[in-house]
Amino acid sequence: MKQLLLFFAVLMLLSSCASKMPQYTYEPVPYELGVPFFPDSVNIPANNPMTVDGVTLGRYLFYDQRLSGDPKKPMSCATCHKQEHSFECGTELFPDGRPVGNSGKKTPNVMLSLINLVWNNSGYFWNGYVNKESGKNIETTVTMAITAPHEMDGDINQAVKLIKKDKRYRELFYKAFGTDEIDIDLISKAIAQFVRSIVSFNSKFDRFMAGEEQLSKSEMRGLMLFTTERADCFHCHGSPALPLWTNNLFMNNAKDIDFEGQNDRSAVTQNPLDKGKYRVPTLRNIEFTAPYMHDGRFKTLDDVLEFYNNGLKRSPYIDPLSINTNHGGMHLSAQDLKDLKAFLLTLSDTAFLKDERYGNPWK
Ligand code: HEC
Ligand code: HEC
Repeated sequence: MKQLLLFFAVLMLLSSCASKMPQYTYEPVPYELGVPFFPDSVNIPANNPMTVDGVTLGRYLFYDQRLSGDPKKPMSCATCHKQEHSFECGTELFPDGRPVGNSGKKTPNVMLSLINLVWNNSGYFWNGYVNKESGKNIETTVTMAITAPHEMDGDINQAVKLIKKDKRYRELFYKAFGTDEIDIDLISKAIAQFVRSIVSFNSKFDRFMAGEEQLSKSEMRGLMLFTTERADCFHCHGSPALPLWTNNLFMNNAKDIDFEGQNDRSAVTQNPLDKGKYRVPTLRNIEFTAPYMHDGRFKTLDDVLEFYNNGLKRSPYIDPLSINTNHGGMHLSAQDLKDLKAFLLTLSDTAFLKDERYGNPWK
């Protein structure tokens, strides 16, 4: 009898040990961005290297509506950052391009497309508020999004609690970080890895540069206008030699004379010369991300081109690179504007909008 009891005792001890031991392994494999550009200028913090399993976990979290911490007010990053709009919100639900957060407040600005952010070293958000110099990076945007009233309006502890409840996350966290102790630090790191993995480099123009596709005459003329001083877009928005199609710097593109109350670059640097400056947005996928400018003042690309053509305003804060400002705009012909637009549309990467690597993994 005693022997039998001992046998059961040993058995129970063994089985309790076994349940504590993870059945999965931690073998981090570096994540390859798979893009030949600028390998040396990636913005990846030393304490959060990208791994295949880290990116996978981040993708689950990016699409998880429990991140708001309140089952009655479910919201995920993807509620606003939608793949079909190059990770902006589109105008179907929010006609002015500004999503409404859980508190009922609208976001102060329109959205930014979450593509190719891993190559931005100058700061995130329209005014660069999130930057390395102040110890912030994409990781920081996670807790900001959870708590901001105009976003999830949630509570970080509640969010972590809800994520922990789902047992499927144990394995995902273990594989990504070698621990299943889930906390907000690891949640932020994983989501940041996923966001950094989002790259878009398969537009018609990319295929043209690779010699795989031709541009039409109109698109070619548009390229010429864009990359010369006639339209003068290349000074800020890149060129075939800078295929991010942004210089990622902060510029004043001559929209305003009065800068009172703007949450512009000067609000971050406290330098009055930075009035009216915003981060130059990428023109990749511009077709999918209306409305335009930080405040969404232009509804269509035609409106934008009309502004650069006839609407440039002089102020002491305009950028010297904005060479057409002295005479109020480019003053191009209607045909020129058509060509310029045709070129801009060659920067659309339609395959990206359905790229499974960035889609909702819960489906
Ligand atoms: C309620 C809508 C909303 C939600 C939810 C939301 N965002 Fe955003 N996000 C925005 C808006 C609007 C901006 C532009 C803000 C600005 O610069 O003024 C933005 C900007 C960003 C940027 C900066 C992009 C750049 O190019 O500088 C990052 C990164 C980002 N969001 C990540 C996230 C992540 C990660 C989540 C989920 C944890 C998230 N967002 C949830 C609306 C949202
Ligand atoms: C002096 C720098 C500069 C020049 C030159 C310039 N831009 Fe811009 N562009 C910007 C900045 C900065 C913004 C964002 C401004 C804001 O949001 O308030 C912007 C915004 C845009 C947008 C809207 C992007 C979005 O996501 O909302 C488009 C489209 C655009 N520019 C196209 C062009 C074209 C086409 C040309 C040439 C005709 C051009 N730009 C010339 C700096 C410049």
